[in-house]
Amino acid sequence: MAQTKPKQPGGGGPEWVDLDVPSRLPIIPLVSSVLFPGGVLSLQVGIDRNVRLLKSIPDEQNLIAAFCQKSGDKENPRPEDLSHIGVLAAIVQRLPLSSDRFQLFLQGRQRVELVQMLQKEPYFEGMLREVAPKPIPKTVKTEHLLNKSMSLFEKLVESDSKYSNELLNILRMNMDEGPDTFADLLSSFVNFPLEEKQLLLETVNPIERLEMLIDWIQRDLGKATFDRELQRQIQSSIDRRERENYLREQLRVIQDELGDANPGEREADTYRDRIEALPVAEDHKQQLRREVNRLTQLSPSSSDYAVIKGHLDTVLQVPWSEKTEDQLDLAKAEAVLDERHHGLEKVKERVLEFLAVLKLKGDLKGPILCFVGPPGVGKTSLGAAIADALGRKFVRMAVGGVTDESEIRGHRKTYIGAMPGRMIQSYIQVGVNNPLIMIDEVDKIGKDYRGDPSSALLEALDPKQNHAFVDRYLEIPYDLSHTLFICTANVLDMIPSPLRDRMEVIRLSGYTENEKMEIAKKHLVPELVTDHGLKPDQVTVTDDSMLTIIRDYTAEAGVRGLERKLATIMRKVARKVASGTGEEHYAVELTDLESYLGLPAYEHEFAERHPEIGVTTGLAWTQFGGEIMFIEATRMAGNGRTTVTGQLGDVMRESVTAAYSYVRSKAAELEIEDRKFSEHDIHIHFPAGAIPKDGPSAGVAIATCIASVMGERPVRHDVAMTGEVTLRGKVLSVGGIKEKVLAAHRASIKTVVLPEGNRKDLTEVPEEIKKELLFVFAERVEDVWKEALIPLYIAKGRDRKYDEAEYRAERQQQQKGDRAEQR
Ligand SMILES: Nc1ncnc2c1ncn2[C@@H]1O[C@H](COP(=O)(O)OP(=O)(O)OP(=O)(O)O)[C@@H](O)[C@H]1O
Ligand SMILES: [Mg+2]
Repeated sequence: MAQTKPKQPGGGGPEWVDLDVPSRLPIIPLVSSVLFPGGVLSLQVGIDRNVRLLKSIPDEQNLIAAFCQKSGDKENPRPEDLSHIGVLAAIVQRLPLSSDRFQLFLQGRQRVELVQMLQKEPYFEGMLREVAPKPIPKTVKTEHLLNKSMSLFEKLVESDSKYSNELLNILRMNMDEGPDTFADLLSSFVNFPLEEKQLLLETVNPIERLEMLIDWIQRDLGKATFDRELQRQIQSSIDRRERENYLREQLRVIQDELGDANPGEREADTYRDRIEALPVAEDHKQQLRREVNRLTQLSPSSSDYAVIKGHLDTVLQVPWSEKTEDQLDLAKAEAVLDERHHGLEKVKERVLEFLAVLKLKGDLKGPILCFVGPPGVGKTSLGAAIADALGRKFVRMAVGGVTDESEIRGHRKTYIGAMPGRMIQSYIQVGVNNPLIMIDEVDKIGKDYRGDPSSALLEALDPKQNHAFVDRYLEIPYDLSHTLFICTANVLDMIPSPLRDRMEVIRLSGYTENEKMEIAKKHLVPELVTDHGLKPDQVTVTDDSMLTIIRDYTAEAGVRGLERKLATIMRKVARKVASGTGEEHYAVELTDLESYLGLPAYEHEFAERHPEIGVTTGLAWTQFGGEIMFIEATRMAGNGRTTVTGQLGDVMRESVTAAYSYVRSKAAELEIEDRKFSEHDIHIHFPAGAIPKDGPSAGVAIATCIASVMGERPVRHDVAMTGEVTLRGKVLSVGGIKEKVLAAHRASIKTVVLPEGNRKDLTEVPEEIKKELLFVFAERVEDVWKEALIPLYIAKGRDRKYDEAEYRAERQQQQKGDRAEQR
């Protein structure tokens, strides 16, 4: 048959030899490539069996059949492992590389089919038959297929760098050879998978072959385009990044040129410089530096940026080393204290002693001062005066109502809206690390599931631990040990005991009317006058007015309410002055008070009061100082029950039960028929129900009230009493005597009944108060009754000689005598 001979572009290749298919030929299995008619194949032969073949065939044997091995063992294939269509090939070169290796160069001639395997060992040899397609006439279709496959392949070569342009030339030159030759040539050029190429070889019909080629080239083209697109995208993103870097670099250069460095970097540099200057440990600095680096990587609009910047700013705001110089001049300190506070002699003395020790010792590792007293007695202002006397900065840290430990110690910075705790904030506020910090209202500090704030305070106040106080937000230990802490509280009992144990308590009690007058005249009025922009001589408050304000407009232990009332007056005066009514000087007379302050809040209805059954005046000691407290009882038909109302604690309820039992046990002496107890119920009420009350000191007042209501004897309204009662009627001493006596005096009480055990406490009470009161000391409840209950003979109307008015006159006479005697 006629051989189709592809034209070689450059010539010089081996000569084509026309050959008929010999009936018997050695067969070489191909495992990794496919040879097409017209194509060439160069391969290294290393498999034993094939090496054997090449060694055995004579040199002049220049034809061989190459069949693809589709399955089986590479070293030892079976005949059925070979594809049924192969290629008759000319051996162009057979070059031994070593004893067991050949370089073989084959040139494909034509398709052949294995008719029969004649020999299997030592190599395959078989009978072959030529397989050739029928000649295909040139049609529009064939032309189209040829052109299409050609143009697609051109595109493939263009898009895929693995193909060389040379292939296109060879193909173009063979376009005229017809679809069969062209298809085989193209098949040998394309980089298709082995199976596909094998399929092309096995497909005898050239039209089909071309169609397959067109399909697969198109597929590869798509892939190539996709790859290229991907590549382009990757490239463009790289380009963009490079471009940005380039632009940024340019911007930096321009800014440098203009002396305007990148603001972000400049900020970071400022932070870095400031961090270097901080007197904190290196590992903390390292941590801060890391934060700065992170900052430079974040967008200023991100929330992380805000968090980190906030933290850095806070750390840098904290006064790590800033401090004021102490001036421990005791004489000066005394002068400052005297100038700022009237009275308070004992308190000032204690404070000066404390300062003296401070001066000698030179450190603050001592107990913490704690001022305890009712509101408005000058605890806070005394703290401020001490700070002034020492030349220290003063800052107030209120802890009342704080129930969350984090309020003191800060929230971790991961917490949204985290901040340092109040402790560190106080330092930021004053800007020095050795201020005087006044911890206000330690008795109102709370505690809940969020931790115990008092433990954080304890740590802050403990000289052994407070040189490295850790705020959770700050994260860097802060030294509190240069700070002078002073606490304040209204009542001592409410301070958590571990805290109380660390404190040296200084008590400030309420003021007498005279003291209040002095404080008002010397301190409050002058200060308020300047505060309101008035001239010193522009306002005077007459003594009468002042006393009335103290008595009828305020009822308090301290001077807070008084200060407020005076401020109201000053405001009104300031308004008059400002609106220019012409008057130069304002004297606030008694008659003016109502126009300035309205009606008095505490009109002393005392004058209108008179002895009553079932109302006693007790004396209580609350956080507001001493107070008078009325106890009321009524009796009704029933069966011996007692009802108690008015927000009482357990101790007070027990006092009621104990008092009731004692009164009943004394029924005979009190001339009460016993069945009265079993036929009546008593209701005891403690007014001002909103205020919680507890403690045993109302015992005598309760017992007197029950005795009064059961025995139908009025209680004298001008007698106030305090004292605990035992079940056997003994009166035990109680606390807060000074405050209670002051309260009684404020309420215009004439006689105060105190437990005998409290006699010594009267030394605390100012003379001017003692002068105006009669004190009766009781050992037993009967002593109280004798003083407070109207005598039986009057109550029962047995002695007609006395009537109430006469009795009163006689009693007043007697009291005058008693008082004179007491003095
Ligand atoms: N002895 C005093 N001499 C001069 N002014 C005084 C005196 N006591 C109190 N004051 C003045 O009374 C006002 C209230 O005092 P301050 O605020 O110190 O009371 P406080 O005891 O801290 O009360 P609180 O328990 O309510 O905090 C202040 O203006 C203070 O200057
Ligand atoms: Mg205060």
